[in-house]
Parts: sequence; C-alpha cells; structure tokens
Amino acid sequence: VIVLFHDRFVDRKECLIDIEDRANQFGDGVYEVIRVYDGEFFLFDDHLKRLEYSLNEAKIKYDINHQQLKELLLELLKKNEVNNGGIYIQISRGIAARSHPFPKESKPTVIAYPIPTSRPLDKQENGIQATLYQDIRWHRCDIKSLNLLGNVMAKQHALDIGASEAIFYRDYNHVTEGSSTNVFIVNDGVIQTHPANNFILNGITRLYIKYLAKQLDLPFNEKVFTVAELKEADEVFISSTTSEVIPVTQIDETVIGNGKPGPIAKQLLNAFFEHHK
Ligand code: PDD
Repeated sequence: VIVLFHDRFVDRKECLIDIEDRANQFGDGVYEVIRVYDGEFFLFDDHLKRLEYSLNEAKIKYDINHQQLKELLLELLKKNEVNNGGIYIQISRGIAARSHPFPKESKPTVIAYPIPTSRPLDKQENGIQATLYQDIRWHRCDIKSLNLLGNVMAKQHALDIGASEAIFYRDYNHVTEGSSTNVFIVNDGVIQTHPANNFILNGITRLYIKYLAKQLDLPFNEKVFTVAELKEADEVFISSTTSEVIPVTQIDETVIGNGKPGPIAKQLLNAFFEHHK
C-alpha cells in the first residue's frame, strides 16, 4: 500500500508515525472516509467541508488547499490502482511531548491511504439486525474525531450478540445514531432522522439521502425520535459512506414492520444504484 504522508507518497513500511503523535496518546485528530466509484470521489467537496469543520471545532490549525489535496488524493488512487473503494484521511494535531494542553507549536500530521470497500449487497437486499446501546459517548459527536472508543465498544457488543449495528440512545426519549451510521425511521411515507446537532455526526450520506428524498418527493423530517417510535416504525434504515443505505429489519427482539426491507429504503437504494452502477 502507498500512503500519502503530508505531501509525499511513501510505502506503508516507510510511513513512520512518531510515538508522540497526539493521535496516539489523545486521539487528538479528525478523519474522513470518502467513497470512490469508478475512479471518482463521491461527494468529495462535502467531505472536505466537514473535514474543515472538524478541524475548526477541534481548533487544529491546518489550512486545507482543496485543489492540491484533491490532486494528491487522486494520485493516491492511481498509485494504489483503486477504481472502486474508499480512502481514509486523518489529520492529527501533530507531535509534542505528552501533555494535555495544545502544543504551542506543532505541525499537524496528515496521512491518507486506501481502504478496501465494496457495496454490502447482501445486507442491502435482506436487511440487518440491530441492537440498542446506551450512548456513552461525549457531547461533541458532530466532530469526526479519532476518539472512537465508545463507537468501537458499541459495535463489538452488537457483533457479540449476533447483530450488525448498535443504535445509540441517550435516554428512552432520544435515539441518536448508529455506532458508525446515521439512523432513519419511516412512518406513512415520512422519513425522520435526528437533527444535525452536537449529538450526531452529520453524515454526508445522510445529507445525500435528504437530497434524494427531495428529488423523489419524499417528506424528510429532522426531529428526535424515541426508542418506542424506533421500534414501532414502519421502516428503519441506516446510512453511511460505506453502507450507503441498509434496511434494519429487527432491533433486539422487535421485528420492524413485516420483517422485510421496506419500500422507502428500497427506493433510496435504487436511486443510489442508478447514480453508481
Ligand atoms: N463512519 N455516524 C457515525 C458515528 C459515523 O462514524 C459515520 C461514518 C456516520 C455516517 O457518516 P457518513 O455518511 O459521512 O459516512 C454517522 C465512517 C464511514 C467510519 O468511521 O468508517
């Protein structure tokens, strides 16, 4: 694997990250996962905009040169012969002796490399089982930060009990998102999802679904829903860069709707497929 390390391309073995990179000790950095279809980045500008938002909110001083970064990342795809897949990009606050305050002077560490990704067709066609999990994370989930311990613990719990995704709730009146996805419910044709605030990551796929909903004339409502509303919904589905749209057909013991992927999720998936064969 060839890695983009700052503005150089190096072999994975030569990409030496310092032990005192703040990503290591503090998870002090931010990241993006961008999907590649047919050699082209999908929603690149939206991902870069969110990366800038995360950097700003975390007060990491790094000026992104959009055009230059895009060229470097396209070069990265070429060097790794990626035509369909994804790239991971991470920017940490940089290297400094371990101490909590921001270092006075540090140069952010930038790395990017391809991550194999393919369309999860089986899950998209048949739906998945999810489990509820208390949202044990912090209150700045809008920052796409490297601190993912809460997400990782939730995901592993889901897999341990035979489910595929953990759906977070802050309390029974407040479902937030999945461990690595956004969550939607559908009732009488109306799509509902958590508003974009500090309790969720404003998913780029979530925003794309909002756009698709408009194109398809499907009402889209950004409003908090409860655990009871989640379980009683006609349809539930999740979204992310790598999942696109995946129907949820069971949550713990509760079967959603008739236990089969619902029509709205299918409609959105078809729209996805039309754009990216
Ligand atoms: N995860 N919520 C959380 C907590 C996420 O980690 C993600 C994405 C999303 C969906 O965002 P988007 O549509 O922009 O991918 C929502 C990425 C893919 C990951 O960490 O691998």
